[in-house]
Amino acid sequence: MSITRRKLLGWAAALPAAGLGTAGFTPLRAQDRTAAAVAESDDLRASVFSRQLAPEGYPATEVWGYNGAIPGPEIRQPQGSRLRRRLVNGLPEPSSIHWHGIRLENGMDGVPGLTQEPVAPGESFNYGFDLPDAGTYWYHTHNRSYEQMARGLFGPLIVTEAEPPEADTDLVLFLDDWRLGGDGTIAAGFGAAHDAAHAGRLGNFITVNGAFDFRRKVQQGERLRLRVINGATSRIFPLALDAMAGWIVAFDGMPLAGPESADGRAIVLGPAQRVDLIVDVTAEAGEQATLVGIERGQGFALASFDVASGKDLARGPRAAPLPLPANPVQLRHPALVAGKEMRRQEMLLQGGAMRALQSASYQGRRQDGQALADQGKYWAFSDVIGLPEAPFARLSPGETLRIDMVNDTAFAHAMHLHGTHFREIDAEGAPGPWRDTLLIDPDERRSIAFVADQPGNWLFHCHMLAHQEAGMKTWIEVTA
Ligand code: C2O
Ligand code: CU
Repeated sequence: MSITRRKLLGWAAALPAAGLGTAGFTPLRAQDRTAAAVAESDDLRASVFSRQLAPEGYPATEVWGYNGAIPGPEIRQPQGSRLRRRLVNGLPEPSSIHWHGIRLENGMDGVPGLTQEPVAPGESFNYGFDLPDAGTYWYHTHNRSYEQMARGLFGPLIVTEAEPPEADTDLVLFLDDWRLGGDGTIAAGFGAAHDAAHAGRLGNFITVNGAFDFRRKVQQGERLRLRVINGATSRIFPLALDAMAGWIVAFDGMPLAGPESADGRAIVLGPAQRVDLIVDVTAEAGEQATLVGIERGQGFALASFDVASGKDLARGPRAAPLPLPANPVQLRHPALVAGKEMRRQEMLLQGGAMRALQSASYQGRRQDGQALADQGKYWAFSDVIGLPEAPFARLSPGETLRIDMVNDTAFAHAMHLHGTHFREIDAEGAPGPWRDTLLIDPDERRSIAFVADQPGNWLFHCHMLAHQEAGMKTWIEVTA
């Protein structure tokens, strides 16, 4: 099929900001990710390759990814096992891998400039660490991530429970958005000032497991465990279920104390956040069940499930699942449950469009807003732009810290702590679910508390990657 440039431009312009009206396009074959893709090698080879992201008949897109796949190969290992992967860097620039949400030793955390040297082109790096907590995690580059992740360097990392909950199917749904030009290429301008000072780099093209029109066959009454991962650089995904009913059982890998109904509500997933759902297909045979994305009040199909008549699957409503077994990190820190007195530190989130920084400290010097903007810095934490010389806090192992975050900006931020999970603490001091990334809306005040886990330097940053690059990163030192 030959395509004129004009037609392509028309197509690109016709892309709604969220997802796609897919009518009239030939659906892409849904990517079926299997463990076999990983088993052939313990390498994660980062390279430049071409992938059909846009509908067939349109040009393929040059992406950066792992082992030739978008997203990278699904790593799935039992809780307590050791993960070993060699990053082989076939990219034109240095890279690294961060294992998002995993409690590991600091040297394996993959943060250039803080925990390791970036891995140069042609070089490799051996990652190896134990997986103490079960759940839905992911891995991604942590070097110039605002560009490298926008090009595709990420993948799912699933740590399985010894006794998984009852479900007929366990399925990862990896959400991402891309900013594609009319010729199918990823649009340049990765660090663009406008994106960096506003809501980040939002895409115009959404994929699930690398497919723009993810669909899969299910049986009537089938019980699915859906592990939804938001891998987008900046996009917030509000989600809802249609013709599926069920429960939220975990956030960011960490089990909830009990399953929470997911019906009739929106589940908001900020960048880097995950949710585990256990849902029963309620649609009749021949109908469709849908994971719905919501944008400006409109729903669109993120993932579609074509329902066939069930053979031996239970019919009618099934009982709620049992809670997932608590992870060691949740059992180990009763202090966070008791809500006792703890060290507190305030963190002001500042800057961005509409509330521009007057001045802040960057590279050890107080600088005015214009000088900072000239260096691409628009955001600060409590008057300091990252990555500063001094940590935001210094803790001894086992010490508890509560951070009271005040979002004094006009934008939402997805605050992510490396190295351990935290709990949100509400105004009355009661702890909420365990998370590793907290979405905080404009003018909100939200508190988290965590117990210092392993010694080392742990990044704490906004996971809207243009914000991170433009100043929103600091670190927490846990002394040996
Ligand atoms: Cu998902 Cu600092 O990372
Ligand atoms: Cu942010």
